[in-house]
Amino acid sequence: MKRIGLLTSGGDAPGMNAAIRAVVRSGIYFGMEVYGVERGYAGLIEDNIIPMEMRSVSNIVQCGGTRLRTARCLEMLTVEGQKKALDTLEKHGIEGLVVIGGDGSFRGAETLSKYGVPTIGIPGTIDNDLEYTDYTLGFDTAVNTCLDIINKLRDTMTSHERVSVVEVMGRHCGDIALYSGIASGAEIIVVPEITFDIHEIVSRINRSRASGKHSNIIVVAEGVMSAEKFAGQLQELTEYSVRPTCIGHVQRGGSPSMSDRMLAAQFGNKAVRLLNENVGNRVVGIRDNKIIDMDIIEAVSMKKTFNYELYETLQMISM
Ligand code: F6P
Repeated sequence: MKRIGLLTSGGDAPGMNAAIRAVVRSGIYFGMEVYGVERGYAGLIEDNIIPMEMRSVSNIVQCGGTRLRTARCLEMLTVEGQKKALDTLEKHGIEGLVVIGGDGSFRGAETLSKYGVPTIGIPGTIDNDLEYTDYTLGFDTAVNTCLDIINKLRDTMTSHERVSVVEVMGRHCGDIALYSGIASGAEIIVVPEITFDIHEIVSRINRSRASGKHSNIIVVAEGVMSAEKFAGQLQELTEYSVRPTCIGHVQRGGSPSMSDRMLAAQFGNKAVRLLNENVGNRVVGIRDNKIIDMDIIEAVSMKKTFNYELYETLQMISM
């Protein structure tokens, strides 16, 4: 394979730039020409293609966001959009493609593979909602950002003896809430995977106050309810003052952590190694600390499972 393309798609994630760098440099190592597609599939449909050189990816390993920019592209779901995307690839002689994004982006990658363009997916999303890989790119940094904010909230909540309700991202997957809850010492997490009982939450708060606690942290995944709504419901049932905080898009930005940079380097390199062997229709990931690759269709059809043992751990150690 002599000419490959690369795009980032869906919600951005810290580490995408480091992955772009790894793909470009690995491609050049194998003697390939690498082309960047700006604005994800929207850019592929609209022919926003730029050549990527060795130095186009200098000084980006530490940057959040994605230099190629990204988009959520509904047109890629239509046959017309897919045909335009294929035309662009053909026009530029791009023989293989690397797609960095989440499950929606992988469906686009699968479609292109079906049309005969070898495509490799790199899991780039803060949500950690893909079952086939233990971690997705950006998750670690996003959780660390949440921790930083929750630490600060704890200071003021303790001073005022308040209950803090913190909303983190995750529409269908509670992993950001689960990990940031455990690592910040939050007493309660509320996730889409588990039905919650507000009266039980009130009891936990009362028990913790009776045992000498001065504040409480509750982490709520956005898919369940907004922090504002949750705090409103809780305030009706408790004498303690409740304050909502929505972390929002702050958790999608920032310099990637060591873990995310390491994933980016290995995922990017593995993706290009596969294309260099003319292998397509695969996604890369990490399982049991080993870099793996898997059939795209198989990977996207796996249902994400929630780690109930970790949830119980939180319940046992945070009170
Ligand atoms: O898919 C990543 C994600 O950050 C989700 O956690 C969140 O629900 C969504 O993107 C927000 O999307 P947008 O930036 O388009 O509002």
